[in-house]
Amino acid sequence: MPLISMRPMLKEAQAGRYGVAAYNMIDYNSARSIIEGAAELKAPVIVQVSVKTVRHWGYAPIASWVGMLAASVDIPVALHLDHCSDSDVIKRCIDAGWTSVMFDGSALPFEQNLARSLDIYRLTEAAGIGLEAEMGAIGGTEDDKFVAEDKALLADLADCVAFCKEMPRLAVFAPAIGTAHGFYKGEPKIAYDLLRDITARIDIPIALHGGTGLAQEQFDRCIAGGCAKVNISTMHKRCYIDGFADLKVEKPKLGEPLPFIVSQYEAMKRDVMAMVRAFGSAGKAGA
Ligand code: 13P
Repeated sequence: MPLISMRPMLKEAQAGRYGVAAYNMIDYNSARSIIEGAAELKAPVIVQVSVKTVRHWGYAPIASWVGMLAASVDIPVALHLDHCSDSDVIKRCIDAGWTSVMFDGSALPFEQNLARSLDIYRLTEAAGIGLEAEMGAIGGTEDDKFVAEDKALLADLADCVAFCKEMPRLAVFAPAIGTAHGFYKGEPKIAYDLLRDITARIDIPIALHGGTGLAQEQFDRCIAGGCAKVNISTMHKRCYIDGFADLKVEKPKLGEPLPFIVSQYEAMKRDVMAMVRAFGSAGKAGA
């Protein structure tokens, strides 16, 4: 299928109370494992890209890999830009064929975050693609952004309501609810009450950032509470490296590169399929 916008995909997930897996791709092999893993389970999926990955490979190669892979399967696939505060990168992604983008103005004061998010909202609405925006400060490391544990800030409910009122067609809203990017060092303190209060007042699907390492019960509660997009990056990177390196340990004399790439692909795909099942989106493509 051609790439689609995240908005209708996530509206369906919100209504059906399941989560769409949103994986941060690394290269072609990784994008293939994400799309083919989801396709094997007939699940919609989001391939998202960190800004440094876009800068590394370039706009056109990523759009063409993901577009080509999406065209070869029968599930809805969206190509999304993850955490970006640079309008120029966002514009170039839109021009290259991305079907949604995230503007991350969470480091800005409320008024500036709103004003800049609104500028991008106008662009995405004109282009017919989806927008994700963030409020509060999600902890941990994602791309080049680091938010220390003591600087992570839960989103403010009144701010969230005022912010989303200005952008009723936001594809997905990312309030900080206590999850964090990277491997958790302790038990995450998820603000389920805040999530419930936000979804009681805002009819926009919610993005759950910091998916790596959450337990099934935590996924279940967040998805039941309105999270329709579940982000996974750190575990995907781990599978990418270990899938390759483990085979080197197992067969140190192997000189052919393709078995390494296959081993890496299988490790990433296994994790994608496990998460698709965990989020309840298996069988939901075209539902
Ligand atoms: P993890 O790296 O914790 O999986 O989080 C991914 C994410 O939220 C990307 O924005």
